[in-house]
Amino acid sequence: MCGIIGYTGKDAAKDIMLDTLELLEYRGYDSAGIAVCEGEKSQIQVYKCAGRVKDLRNLCEKEEIEGTCGIGHTRWATHGGVSSENAHPHKYGKVTLIHNGIIENYKDLIGKYGLLDQLHSQTDSEVAAAVLSHFYKGDPYEAIRKAVLKLKGTFALGILFEDIPGTIFAIRNVSPIVVTRTDNGMMLASDAAVLGQYSEEYFVLPEFHILELKEEGATLYDLSGETAEPRWLVLDWDTSRSGKDGYPFYMEKEIMEQPEVIRETLQPRIYEGVPYFTQDEIPDHLLRDCERICVVACGTAMHAGLVGKALIHSLVRIHMDVELASEFMYSDIVVDEKTLVIAISQSGETIDTLEALKYAKKNGARTMAIVNVRGASIARESEYVIYTNAGPEIAVASTKAYTTQLAVLYLLAARMAYVRGVFDKERTAAFTRELMRVPEVMKQVLDRREEIHDIARGILDAADVFMIGRGLDYCILLEGSLKLKEISYIHSEAYASGELKHGTIALITEDTPVIAVVTQDKVQSKEFSNIKEVQSRGAEVVLFMKETYTLDKAASFRGVFKLPVMEDEFMVMPASAALQLLAYYVSLDKGLDVDKPRNLAKVVTVE
Ligand code: F6R
Repeated sequence: MCGIIGYTGKDAAKDIMLDTLELLEYRGYDSAGIAVCEGEKSQIQVYKCAGRVKDLRNLCEKEEIEGTCGIGHTRWATHGGVSSENAHPHKYGKVTLIHNGIIENYKDLIGKYGLLDQLHSQTDSEVAAAVLSHFYKGDPYEAIRKAVLKLKGTFALGILFEDIPGTIFAIRNVSPIVVTRTDNGMMLASDAAVLGQYSEEYFVLPEFHILELKEEGATLYDLSGETAEPRWLVLDWDTSRSGKDGYPFYMEKEIMEQPEVIRETLQPRIYEGVPYFTQDEIPDHLLRDCERICVVACGTAMHAGLVGKALIHSLVRIHMDVELASEFMYSDIVVDEKTLVIAISQSGETIDTLEALKYAKKNGARTMAIVNVRGASIARESEYVIYTNAGPEIAVASTKAYTTQLAVLYLLAARMAYVRGVFDKERTAAFTRELMRVPEVMKQVLDRREEIHDIARGILDAADVFMIGRGLDYCILLEGSLKLKEISYIHSEAYASGELKHGTIALITEDTPVIAVVTQDKVQSKEFSNIKEVQSRGAEVVLFMKETYTLDKAASFRGVFKLPVMEDEFMVMPASAALQLLAYYVSLDKGLDVDKPRNLAKVVTVE
């Protein structure tokens, strides 16, 4: 993870870096720092602290920082705790460095270069600075070339040399670095999203190429010293313009935006009443000829994949797996040219998903990505890409990205059923019509958010919560449970309700609220029986159910929210919105930082 930034030009580097680091905080917010090169005096000053970029800003405001060339970093701690010593940049000899990634062989390097008593931090990154410094005898290319050949792991390095003022060097392996030119200089960053306010074009630094960034431009060299040409791309993604629109937190704004962004994701892909992917350049034969589908994704995106699997199984009757991207490469999974591997990712930068995708490609699979951030690494790496039109998602907890991923998966399922002859045009059109109702039905749930707020008040003090349901209800509870855990810090576990009695029901007491979702006709009677089982053990149940279901007169619930009716496959959408709101209000009422929960980062770029 970690956000990195570099600027060299005519403007004050400090201001540009602080503004950009604030936008990069979704990559980590444990500590932050900048190093500024004071022009011809060639002194490099480092300012850093534990905490957020606003703390760094306070620190910098007390100083006179005048340079026009600098590098900056916002950290998500991996090696070494959260402290100002472990914050980047790290200065070692004439080298000052920022790093995103993990240097896996840092211990060997400490031994090999006798660094044990020389380091000031516990980070792998300072070791990289020390190794660079070891090789630096006045030639930056030679030093970088020799040093990176010693490093194992993933890295994006931004480097200043004390005796080369005004120039930033960079190199990377896997972890991204993008470069742009501004009106008054040049910039690099860990992702393009934050550069949108400065420019309309960028290029991705190729792996193992040395970047030399000066005010007047960028030069690339491969490791044999040959120059390389950058491939400029259009930059049409700008997180800096995304405000909170009067909401206290981005998460609430993003939950409320869902009807609109789902519509924007669906509408352009519906033609004559049926889904089609011409604008995404996805040929029908890709969907028709694959014999197996395998989703690779992490966290919320993986949960979207599970809903997609349930849908595609039941509609298309094709074999489909959903794999945790972090396990994919180590599980001896067989993929071949008849397998369509779909990588799902909001950021398009999750390293586990990216690596899984590369692995699938190497093994001959066809690849498709469902990504939100335009031009992100996973989108670039994949043979085909479908963009969700969710717009920038800033809150760490994913909401609108998840439901727009679902929207794409519904479209894919329907198109697949159509091109494979499972659905005729009429049935496909009927499915699509119901899908197009999602924004309106979801809005009905969002408009009743105060009812969910009331329910949330009832679980504020819970230490543990169970969430139960079957089939699609279980799939969305996995996501609902993750949401509650990550922003409210309440321990929560989603369980397929039929499985509970095989052990876990031992944990149910009157102090363990149970959240049940019941929306699927074919399993609803069983789901209600499972609810009775936990109520018999004293648990108080909060129920989210389809509004047409009736409850026993004698039944008592801590709260009941009646969901507007859609056909069963689509109930996922209104129910997900309700669960998002539940998690949001619990976190809000507990007074937590909803958008930036502890220990997390929005973009996970370490394996
Ligand atoms: C949870 C959440 C994470 C991400 C996961 C994958 O709210 O946001 O679980 O879903 O880190 O991230 P992307 O989708 O960017 O690959």
